[in-house]
Amino acid sequence: MMKRTHHCSELRKSDAGTTATLAGWVDSVRDHGGILFVDLRDREGLTQIVLDPSNAALEAQFSSIKPESVIAVSGRVEERIADAVNTNLDTGGIELHASELKVHNVSKTPPFPMDDSADKTGEDIRMTYRYLDLRRRTNLDVLRMRHQTSQSIRNYMDENSFIEVETPMLFKSTPEGAREFLVPSRMNPGSFYALPQSPQQYKQMLMVAGVERYYQLARCFRDEDLRADRQPEFTQLDIELSFIDREDMYQLIEGLMQRVWKDVLDVSIEAPFLRMSYFDAMNRFGVDKPDMRFEMELQDCGKIFKESTFKVFSGALASGGAVKAFTAKGLADLTQGELRGLEDAAKSLGAKGLAFIKSEGGEWKSPILKFFSDEEKEALREQLHIEDGDIVFFAACEWERACTILGRVRLDAAQLLVKRGKLEISPTDYKFLWVIEFPLMLMDEEQGRFVASHHPFTAPVEADIELLDSDPKAVRGQHYDLVLNGVELGGGSIRIHQPDVQKKIFEDVLKIEPDVVESRFGYMLKSFEYGAPPHGGIAFGLDRMVAILSQRSSIRDVIAFPKNQKGQEMMTASPGIATARQLRDLHIKTSLPEKENTDD
Ligand code: AMO
Ligand code: AMP
Repeated sequence: MMKRTHHCSELRKSDAGTTATLAGWVDSVRDHGGILFVDLRDREGLTQIVLDPSNAALEAQFSSIKPESVIAVSGRVEERIADAVNTNLDTGGIELHASELKVHNVSKTPPFPMDDSADKTGEDIRMTYRYLDLRRRTNLDVLRMRHQTSQSIRNYMDENSFIEVETPMLFKSTPEGAREFLVPSRMNPGSFYALPQSPQQYKQMLMVAGVERYYQLARCFRDEDLRADRQPEFTQLDIELSFIDREDMYQLIEGLMQRVWKDVLDVSIEAPFLRMSYFDAMNRFGVDKPDMRFEMELQDCGKIFKESTFKVFSGALASGGAVKAFTAKGLADLTQGELRGLEDAAKSLGAKGLAFIKSEGGEWKSPILKFFSDEEKEALREQLHIEDGDIVFFAACEWERACTILGRVRLDAAQLLVKRGKLEISPTDYKFLWVIEFPLMLMDEEQGRFVASHHPFTAPVEADIELLDSDPKAVRGQHYDLVLNGVELGGGSIRIHQPDVQKKIFEDVLKIEPDVVESRFGYMLKSFEYGAPPHGGIAFGLDRMVAILSQRSSIRDVIAFPKNQKGQEMMTASPGIATARQLRDLHIKTSLPEKENTDD
């Protein structure tokens, strides 16, 4: 076996005349009129190998090598002649003149090209051959960036006196909302563990235990419908501290983000970050995670249409709703198809329609213009700054729905403007934002009761505690989300640490039966009777953070072995079937028809 002496990125002109051994993957083989050139690649780079045509035995060996085979080559490092220097490559000034070759492994032809054009290949094929997909430079670079990110995080946390503690993967059901993955317990027939949605309860117990500052790069599991920014298993940077308030948290986290962006991208981030209440985020941007890289703010047109003869608008206002609108500058030229796309998006969120006014060629065009008085038009022009070439969209219904609808239309309209070159939204323009003052509780119409808007351990804002009985939905929580460019990077809160307040939230506000409270959270309430410090925490989606840092549109791209839309990991074909014997041992009967592979 030939031991490699260098990576394929390392050799320079100063090495000329020495001998070296490189090992790696054959990137390409080219025959230039009898002289063979092989580009040899490893994770660090690429070196050109040249084969002296006088060495017939070696040439025979070389000429059969297929791309992606693994070889080791020894030879002399030689400076390239001036014409042959490749300035795009660190090693472009030299080449290795081979005198010895060892073929470690011969590769078949890969099912897709090993360069960026592979992105056009179906994702399922790439995931089935994920070891080839990952071997591509761009993907290896993402893995490395993920490593740098966690390294940077660990350094910062360590310097700030945090202790990394591992918490159990085999846990029990929690009330955090998402559906869970259950794991049958063989030794406790009929009982199940649940994989943790987050280490929330354990990290709070670590505070009661006196750990003071905890963090963990923790794997979390949620059996949710999957999207580009959601995986059934994902990684959180999970944090909890004692004796702090919200301001301490903002400062700590702003420092962390500055550190990560500096270490990974060499980018300086400005702090303090902007802060916005949940109400303002919804009211101005129609979403609780506004993308602050562009404006197009929603306006409230309630005053204008209070008395309007257009019943769609005045009716919505009369029943306590809102008329919201925003101007998309320069988008009056949108096509019928694009307009239909926006309408469909609005309707998918419960809109009855998407009223609009276009200003084109000096006049306003709209199916609803005939309903508006001259005063209404003038007031609109003024409030919405309508100029020629603009289009205005309206939503009239309950305030929250109207905001949500236009929030979505705003994002889609922005993309249409980007496509036209009329708006720039740069992936490297990092606009961090704290969204704060969320309502502690939301009414779940289906269940007819309040549910925690984040989780039931969030402390109410102190001044609002007295409203817990009289007006629960007016109570604000000490919750905060960190948003970056329209993505919720993380969220957390100051927690309840008084047993009576926690019990009240469970039983009186959330209306969880006392015996259920006892079986699920009894241990926690008990622990709070033995010296619980005031504490708070936060958790970040590490996958989302790395996706933004590496400018990838899906978190699947930044996970080594991600799951597809159906929750399957294609390479190993998981999940798989359990044998009849496994099921018997676990005391599980399935109602599904037996599949193959159910023998013992
Ligand atoms: P939360 O549920 O908001 O809070 O989760 C924190 C962050 O985790 C990321 N995230 C996800 N990333 C990928 N795939 C998913 N399915 C997924 N779900 C969530 C998001 C989110 O902001 N225990 C609390 C935190 C706390 O209160 O300290 C929690 O888990 O980026
Ligand atoms: P209609 O009078 O129902 O035909 O609606 C007139 C216009 O207003 C159509 O363009 C609809 O798409 C739009 N529209 C209807 N209901 C709403 C609503 N609640 N909010 C905004 N636009 C609406």
